[in-house]
Amino acid sequence: VSKQTVLVKFSKPRSRGYDILAGGGLLKDFGKELARRNGGVSPFVFSSPRVWRLHGKALKVSLEKAGFKPAFYLVPDGEQNKNFLQWSKALQALAAFGQGGAKKPLAVLFGGGVLGDLGGFAAASYKRGIPFVQVPTTLLAQVDSSVGGKLGIDYNTPRGVIKNLVGAFAQPEWVLADTQLLQTLPQRELRAGLAEAIKTAVLFDPKLFAFLQRNVPALLRPDPALLAKVVAACARHKARIVGRDEFDTRGARALLNLGHTFGHALESAAGLRWRHGEAVALGLCCACDLSKKLGLSKTGLPEVEALVRAAGLPYRVPGMDVKKVMAAMSEDKKFQGDLRFIVPLRLGLCRGVSVKDRAHVEAIVQERMASSAGRAHG
Ligand SMILES: NC(=O)c1ccc[n+]([C@@H]2O[C@H](COP(=O)([O-])OP(=O)(O)OC[C@H]3O[C@@H](n4cnc5c(N)ncnc54)[C@H](O)[C@@H]3O)[C@@H](O)[C@H]2O)c1
Ligand SMILES: [Zn+2]
Repeated sequence: VSKQTVLVKFSKPRSRGYDILAGGGLLKDFGKELARRNGGVSPFVFSSPRVWRLHGKALKVSLEKAGFKPAFYLVPDGEQNKNFLQWSKALQALAAFGQGGAKKPLAVLFGGGVLGDLGGFAAASYKRGIPFVQVPTTLLAQVDSSVGGKLGIDYNTPRGVIKNLVGAFAQPEWVLADTQLLQTLPQRELRAGLAEAIKTAVLFDPKLFAFLQRNVPALLRPDPALLAKVVAACARHKARIVGRDEFDTRGARALLNLGHTFGHALESAAGLRWRHGEAVALGLCCACDLSKKLGLSKTGLPEVEALVRAAGLPYRVPGMDVKKVMAAMSEDKKFQGDLRFIVPLRLGLCRGVSVKDRAHVEAIVQERMASSAGRAHG
């Protein structure tokens, strides 16, 4: 039997690049930009009731002024709706919209990270993928989730709901982050978004870290111009990493999980009472503790906890079940043996470590959970 090998060659191994526009007040020019970048076909807008009530009119006006007749579909708010049923309904809405037209429609994702992940996954799966534009409306979505092309939904398994278990990679056409929209965002959501910005600063950017230290009160006011600087800086870092590791197979993207091994475990142990960013903030503190415990940094970067505290984010949580947190962490990494963490060596320099001795990790969680000095959530 002769064996033949056929090589499938791709001329472009990676997706094309794309623009991320960040600034206060950009939404009013969205229609014009869309026409310029993507032509005259009216888009299909996904949003959520809350975002639509607050900012839907502005989006519609902007699109109509540019000659579009947009259709829209609202996905109910909340992580509990980032599920199979809502994804399926979103697909039905797309199918109804697309009736008769052979051309692939363009989707616009106008909302927070939940909407972006779910609507994006609908776009990535409908007709094997239609183009979409991200218009993130939470700080978390602007600094993190709208960039990088990870899309998906949480999925119910016999072991419970697993976050982001089902999804796809697909990059947006472009991203428009209008920081003016964050004026209506509740303080708690703003703080949660800042946590991912702090993460990015610890990973890559001591200057951004100092900027955050200086400007926390103004950022939380919230000041659109300062926020635009943070969004642009975070997007630039994420874009660089994603460009090197689009499909999360080369290790570069793993860095972005700083604070997330602890964070995800805390999130699942606490259920939906926590915002993702809050868990990440506490996770960042734990990652610093681990760095100190493993002797990878002398001080354990106390400035990180200080910034987390200044941002009003949780750095200690009394009354959480340590066993539950540890179980969630092991579940998360069940098939990979040792626990993997990203830890900071100093500001702007982090690396991955494998931890065999779970007692180290448990001791850190224990310390962060046991103290009654911190802020409680729930
Ligand atoms: N794809 C990725 O790379 C990535 C990265 C990080 C997080 N995520 C996902 O993002 C999700 C969290 O996103 P989130 O923090 O944006 O939460 P979210 O989407 O639930 O939004 C939080 C709340 O704010 C409301 N809201 C949105 N914009 C608003 C505005 N301008 N004014 C007032 N209210 C507004 C929403 O309706 C919602 O009630 C999680 O599901 C997480 O898994 C994805
Ligand atoms: Zn995150």
